[in-house]
Amino acid sequence: MVKIAPSILSADFSQLGKDIELIERFGADFVHIDVMDGMFVPNISLGIPVIKSIRKMTKLPFDVHLMIEKPDRYIEDFVDAGADIITVHYEADRHIDRTINYIKSFGKKAAIAINPGTPVCVIEELIGEIDMVLIMTVNPGFGGQKYINYCSNKIKNVKQLADKYNPNLLIEVDGGINDNIIKNVVDCGANVVVAGSAVFKNGDVEQNINRLREALI
Ligand code: DX5
Ligand code: ZN
Repeated sequence: MVKIAPSILSADFSQLGKDIELIERFGADFVHIDVMDGMFVPNISLGIPVIKSIRKMTKLPFDVHLMIEKPDRYIEDFVDAGADIITVHYEADRHIDRTINYIKSFGKKAAIAINPGTPVCVIEELIGEIDMVLIMTVNPGFGGQKYINYCSNKIKNVKQLADKYNPNLLIEVDGGINDNIIKNVVDCGANVVVAGSAVFKNGDVEQNINRLREALI
């Protein structure tokens, strides 16, 4: 079963609690939370106090995508704030193996994200050690961008490695996913799909999530 992880980056921040209730009601599996520091990516989004405050709104797992430099500095804070899955970027951390083990030491799920321009082979040895790989299918920093086509091959590569080293691996795709492309990424091997603008557009979360699910049939 494919999991849907709406990115609250595209929610209405003036009524974040209400938007989270809506995605839970209409069948989201994870809440995808994009944390940006204005250094690793050219945008600043939200951080630890916001996560803490929305934690009480839902029982859904918090899938926290850290687009920040040297994420190891803040892992414990994100654990305390209520993160269930913590994703760090391969490109943002010199000691990714250490950071993964650090995340796991809190009993949380550890994931590595790779940018579109980063080849899958750099994380080959780590696939057996982690819970999830996040394949960026746009350059991180902003919602509402266009899916980069060559990333479909990278999803297939990760799927092959997962079959070999870690059959339970969650394979998440993030960026530019809509009802036109979702079937393609799932056929390539993705089993967790992030969608921001496609879930929150036109203020009709129910219809938007239904459209994504129907496109998978
Ligand atoms: C981009 C973020 C994504 C983004 C997805 O840096 O990691 O999660 O919000 O938004 P859409 O689905 O609109 O591309
Ligand atoms: Zn994200």
